[in-house]
Amino acid sequence: MAENLSYTKAASQLHLSQPAVSMQVKQLEQTAGMPLLEQVGKKLYLTEAGQIMRNCANDISDRLKETSEKIAQLQGYQRGSLKISVATTASYFVIYMLKRFSELYPQITINLDVTNRSSLLEQLSKNERDITIMGEPPNSLDLVARPFMDNPLIMIAAPNDPLLKKKRIRLGELASQTFVIREEGSGTRAAIQRFFENAGVEIQSTIEMSSNEAIKQAVQAGLGLAIVSSHTVKLEIESGHLVEIRPLQFPIMRKWYLVHPAGKILSPLASLFDSFVMDYKNEVIDE
Ligand code: PGA
Repeated sequence: MAENLSYTKAASQLHLSQPAVSMQVKQLEQTAGMPLLEQVGKKLYLTEAGQIMRNCANDISDRLKETSEKIAQLQGYQRGSLKISVATTASYFVIYMLKRFSELYPQITINLDVTNRSSLLEQLSKNERDITIMGEPPNSLDLVARPFMDNPLIMIAAPNDPLLKKKRIRLGELASQTFVIREEGSGTRAAIQRFFENAGVEIQSTIEMSSNEAIKQAVQAGLGLAIVSSHTVKLEIESGHLVEIRPLQFPIMRKWYLVHPAGKILSPLASLFDSFVMDYKNEVIDE
């Protein structure tokens, strides 16, 4: 009506009868408490109140359009697939994170690759995945990396290990122990090697295994000691199948990072997951 300034045109545009339009205008005028239209000669004009009402109606219609566009966009963001790669060790908590994420966004399909640090770095250099969760990223690649959770590395032993009787264990005393360690390419392994090198301690005997699960079994069986992320042994320590020992300077404090290549434009789903991880980190730690 405010656009056409004609009852006949407004009625035809709105598929209403002319008296129905006139009734609506009267109701609006009652609400405003002032006339919205005035007739000068044969022509209708908006009064000042009518112009205010028209501007306000236009604003409301713009906001409604904007709102429905945003909702449509959000629905679009909640569908599709997401390629996530995580370090083997991170998979222990990422699984719980994904459970919560897929409860919130059931229409997002997740493809999870669980692999060691060196494979993650290769994928990152080829820009193959949407998002990566790993231990500290190297400076040699141009990456965006944000820490979101602590990753303490603890020393574990079988419940009957004689070291448990000692009150104070110096790092030097560990040199003669056998350690069960991860394969070449593992971030945990690299961090442990760096730690002992910095401390000037040379471990004499190691047994190498390519899985955290195998390492846990080996330590339980008394094959040696191991240093693993605390995320991987929560259950075994709670049940008493493994025990934590705390030499001086332990645990080795590390962090988990959300990583993607610098310059990569994150897809809407990847951004959604990224914010989800940053927002939910505290809950995840409690799993
Ligand atoms: P990983 O863990 O030992 O399973 O490769 C990655 C990391 O801790 O950096």
